[in-house]
Amino acid sequence: MDPVLIEKGKKVSLAILTREDAPALYRIINDPEVHRTLSTPGKIYSLVEEYDWIDNYANVPGKSVNLAIKYNETMETVGIIGINDIDNDRRAHIGYYLRKDYWGKGIMTEATALMVDYAFRIMNLRKLFTNVYSMNPASSKVLEKNGFHKIGTMKRDHYVPGEGFVDVNFYELLNSDA
Ligand SMILES: CC(C)(COP(=O)(O)OP(=O)(O)OC[C@H]1O[C@@H](n2cnc3c(N)ncnc32)[C@H](O)[C@@H]1OP(=O)(O)O)[C@@H](O)C(=O)NCCC(=O)NCCS
Repeated sequence: MDPVLIEKGKKVSLAILTREDAPALYRIINDPEVHRTLSTPGKIYSLVEEYDWIDNYANVPGKSVNLAIKYNETMETVGIIGINDIDNDRRAHIGYYLRKDYWGKGIMTEATALMVDYAFRIMNLRKLFTNVYSMNPASSKVLEKNGFHKIGTMKRDHYVPGEGFVDVNFYELLNSDA
């Protein structure tokens, strides 16, 4: 099935997530270098969990929007970006991950710009926020290049296997039009 594109960029586009994306995402998230900087760094995900998440949690009206990141040249799924925990104040948490061999090409900077556009212009959300481990400067850079402000640091806040308790930086971006 051809992907349904929601936002189109120069390098990547954001598409409706389908069950066909599950095997690609399952392989990406289980790469130890990808999951070490995610919220559950030690966890190994099963393919069954990936299907369950896509079927039941990834896109819940009023709660979450998770989109596949498609590499424009090949339309391959190379990662995911999503807004979750949308609340009554029209705030949401933004999160993402990308296949390792696509890192360092500006892809997540572009995908984040596309997701921010969707969240603010189409969904009229007021604020996006997220948290980033101090040992993940690439993600901080992605956020800062998209206008997010660092609002503080929780010291020795989260346990990451191999790292111990790491500092966590919090970022937010306000929608000036909402
Ligand atoms: C974080 C992640 C999404 C970044 O994606 P990406 O497409 O490689 O990011 P981009 O290429 O758009 O931008 C990365 C920026 O960080 C910079 N960067 C990379 N490693 C860095 C480091 N160790 N120190 C400082 N800056 C670094 C890059 O130079 C680039 O900045 P530039 O464009 O000004 O040169 C990707 O590494 C990833 O999926 N990591 C695992 C999952 C994860 O951490 N998700 C986020 C959880 S908060």
